Order: sequence, then C-alpha cells, then structure tokens
Amino acid sequence: MILLGIETSCDETSCSVITNGVVLSNIVKTQKIHKKFGGVVPDLASKDHERKILAIVYECIEEAKVKLGDVDAIAVTYGSGLLGSLIVGLNFAKGLAVGLDIPLIGISHLEGHLSSGFINNSPEFPCISLIVSGGHTQIWLIESIDKFNVVSNTVDDAAGEAFDKGARILGLDYPGGPEIEKLAKEGNPLKYKFPLPEVKNNRFNFSFSGLKTALLYKKNKLDNFDNYSMNDLAASYQHAIVTSLLNKLERVFSHYKIYNIIIVGGVSANLYFRKSALSLKEKYDLNLIFPDLEYCTDNAAMIAMAGYLKLLQNKTSDLSIEPNPNIIYQ
Ligand code: KG4
Ligand code: ZN
Repeated sequence: MILLGIETSCDETSCSVITNGVVLSNIVKTQKIHKKFGGVVPDLASKDHERKILAIVYECIEEAKVKLGDVDAIAVTYGSGLLGSLIVGLNFAKGLAVGLDIPLIGISHLEGHLSSGFINNSPEFPCISLIVSGGHTQIWLIESIDKFNVVSNTVDDAAGEAFDKGARILGLDYPGGPEIEKLAKEGNPLKYKFPLPEVKNNRFNFSFSGLKTALLYKKNKLDNFDNYSMNDLAASYQHAIVTSLLNKLERVFSHYKIYNIIIVGGVSANLYFRKSALSLKEKYDLNLIFPDLEYCTDNAAMIAMAGYLKLLQNKTSDLSIEPNPNIIYQ
C-alpha cells in the first residue's frame, strides 16, 4: 500500500511517500518569502505553493524510488489552515486522484500532527495527546484511532504563538521557537520568574498571552540596565512556557489515570521541553512518545500516516470535500 501525502496548510510545501506506514520520502520546503514580514503572508503563501507543488511531488516520488502509477491513495490536508494555501494542495490532490483513479483522503491538520506519533512508534490506547503547534494547544483524550475528545484548550495564544511573539519582543527571527531555544541553551532558566498562568474555573486549560506581556515588561525594565543576559531572559521565558505545558498535562493524565502520552506539533521539537518531560516520565512511569524531530513541525509524512490509518478503517473522502480553514474540535 503506497500513499502520497500532501501538506500545504501554511508556509510549508510538503510531500511524502509512505508504504504500509513506513516513510520512504518526506520533502518539506519552508517558504522563505515571509521572513522579512515577521509572519506568514497568506497571499504570498498560496502563490508559492502553486509555483512549487508539482516539482516537489515529482522530487518526492523519485526519492521514494516509486512511480506515480504505483501510488494507491492520496492523503491531503483540507483544514485547518490558510484558505488559499489549503485550496492549492487540495485541488492538486483532487486532480491527481482523478487522473490516477485512486482514492482521496482528506486529513485535518491536527489529526495529521497526532498521527506523527505513529511514525516509527506504536502508541497504546487509551492515550492522551498534547498537541502544541503555532495555532493550537490542546490535550486530546483518545480512546481509539477514530474516537477522541478535547479535554483542554488554550483560551488565548497557542504555545508556539507564545514562542513566536516572545521572539519578536526579543528581536529574533520568525519562527521564534527555534530562535528562543538557541538563545536559551546558554542561559539560566531560573534567573527570572514569570507568572504561570491559570485559567479561571478550568485547571486543565492553557493561557499564554499574559506570559508574552510579562516578557515585554521584563525586557523593558531590564533594558534600563546595560548588563543583563538575553540568554537568561530567553531561557527563563522558555522555562515558563514549558512548565505551564507540563503542569497542565500532569493534571490531565493524573485526573484520567491514563499514562500513555503522545506529545506532538512544532513545539514538541524543543529539546528543553523534551528533557523537562522526562522528569514526568520517570515520576509516573509514563509511556511517553515524542515523534522523531523531522515529524514535529509541519510535514506531509504525518498527513500520509493519518491517511494510512484512515484507509485501514476503509475511510476515504468524496471529491466534493472542501477546504475548511477552521476545523473546530470539541
Ligand atoms: O506544527 P507547526 O510546524 O505548525 C503549526 O501547525 O502551527 O508549529 C509551528 C510552531 C511555531 O510557532 C514555532 O515557533 C514552533 O512551532 N516551534 C518551536 C520549535 N520549533 C518550532 N517552538 C519551540 N521550540 C522549537 N524548537
Ligand atoms: Zn502544524
């Protein structure tokens, strides 16, 4: 069973070939055109996907050492994401599915992230997944591959957004997560104390917008002294985000008494986060899965994997499937 995955929901044009759940190729081209704007410009993103997608699909097929005619099904992200960008990937995939006369499987981006935990790993059910990306911070309670519900959400910014906005305050490039991580490596995470946000009436939910404001105030104050370390500031800010994520995760899995945990999404690439999660793993003897680093940030292998898991349940999509920029999970 050979699957082609396509992901164009934001600023990565990505294509992957997998066979029976094993990745043969995974090409991710991150658009550079947005760098000077400090964030993704939707119109530029869709045009760039359009320009590149065909060449990337061919490159991916070649790298996997298969032929287009060998592909048995196509999995593609239909939401959430930027409408124009989703349209490019979805329409391309529809055309290819019709041309090759093979099934199309529409995948939600978050289910794609969740499925990254199944690449080179075999999670056990029931499990709990913390999904930490640039647009989402949620905890899902998963009974089986197609049965889950959201038990925790952010009430304002996502964790990745907290990294991105924090980086902007510190004068760093976009995306901010890797930049802050780099700076934080040489810093003391306990040097500055940031308030750990709590959400009224819901001890499972996240809130990150106050943290970014606290960073702004702290930096403005410190700027009056000529002697402070940006490394310490970045490390302390990163520590606050990570501690907040892990505190809420600990509350949720302790409440449900489920110790199979999958942590996915762009922020799960953060090594300080991974290291900090290990202390929870030891304390509770967790069965803890982080995807391989290349499958944390947006990529088509996770979309192909989600498609494979759906195909195993005989679930495919109708060609009338439409892009959905904002899939709501409850
Ligand atoms: O999952 P993803 O690639 O795209 C979305 O679905 O949003 O996540 C992107 C987010 C960005 O906010 C980025 O700053 C963050 O993930 N990120 C990181 C790291 N790598 C990416 N955050 C912290 N540390 C990292 N190493
Ligand atoms: Zn993503």
